[in-house]
Amino acid sequence: MNVLPKKNHALSFFTESVLDQKVVNFWVQKFNPTWSTHEMLGRIVKKQNTAKDMVTLTIRCNKRMNFGLPGQHHPVIVEIAARRLERTYSLNRIDEQHVELTLKKVPQGAVSTWLCHVAEIGDIVEFGQPYGEMLCVTHPEKEVILLAAGSGITPMYSMVYDLAKTGRLVDYRLKLMYWVKRSEDLAFHQFFQKTAQQYPQFSYETFCTQEGEAASRLSESHVNDCGDLHETAVFACGPSGFVNSACDLFHVARLFKSEAFTLSPLEVSDTGTVTITLTKSQKMLEVPRGISLLDALERANEKPVSGCRMGICNKCSCHKVSGVTQNILNQNQNAEPGSSLRICINSAKSDLVLDL
Ligand code: FES
Repeated sequence: MNVLPKKNHALSFFTESVLDQKVVNFWVQKFNPTWSTHEMLGRIVKKQNTAKDMVTLTIRCNKRMNFGLPGQHHPVIVEIAARRLERTYSLNRIDEQHVELTLKKVPQGAVSTWLCHVAEIGDIVEFGQPYGEMLCVTHPEKEVILLAAGSGITPMYSMVYDLAKTGRLVDYRLKLMYWVKRSEDLAFHQFFQKTAQQYPQFSYETFCTQEGEAASRLSESHVNDCGDLHETAVFACGPSGFVNSACDLFHVARLFKSEAFTLSPLEVSDTGTVTITLTKSQKMLEVPRGISLLDALERANEKPVSGCRMGICNKCSCHKVSGVTQNILNQNQNAEPGSSLRICINSAKSDLVLDL
């Protein structure tokens, strides 16, 4: 029996070539800017203030969208002054087609400033593939502690929202502890309060560190309030100082996962420069010590691939052939040759050879 080869559909033929995808997208986007053969695009349909300097954008996504799991992050790409800029945010899926993107304006942050102050209903944003391990539903532990500071509340909101919406919150004993400077900085406050009233096994505590009788920062006393941690999963998200404290204080937990959305300034006494040899581009560069390798290479007019710039997405990862590096988040040094290196969260301690 002869098997006839399958005929390629005409559209598949066009969309299989990258060049043709661009051409097809160019024409279809004249009719609808969110149509695409391959890009995950969305249109802003609602914009509202969530807290001080914080907005929530409701975005209608196209059919290409990979929504990821509650608690994960997405690269969000916008075009500002003809430049494509990418930052990473946690999304909250509210139905089949819509997500909420909640973000805080960061001083000098081009993307957050644009999204908070310039973006309007009807504007288009692009998404990258979701990633991240802030996922309480994929772990068996039902005793869960969520520690959030500032914008670190967004993946926590997404997880609690999803558990409440799907009726699975009753399966967990979940404690959310949320640090902000002032009460006006609290996001999703009413939602969490209402959920705590509705579900006795969900508890919600807030700590304002610069208001009234200022609450203390995350400390040993908060750990003592949490009881036995040996069967507990702990998730922490916030600035790197907060996440590092959480990691030290909750190290006995059965599971600990964290993500930092800012890097603490590197505490190094390193001065002077090192030589970085880039094997693929066959260059030798003199770069300063004491800053991330990503920043150092960009200052030298190199354009290494990067994404989140905070050690989560792995996009900047490269092969280190030799040399000593220091992790900016935990200060650990690594002299092992032939290892994988995320250049956004490591600085050079010695001359380096990188496969870039
Ligand atoms: S850019 Fe995301 S891990 Fe380095």
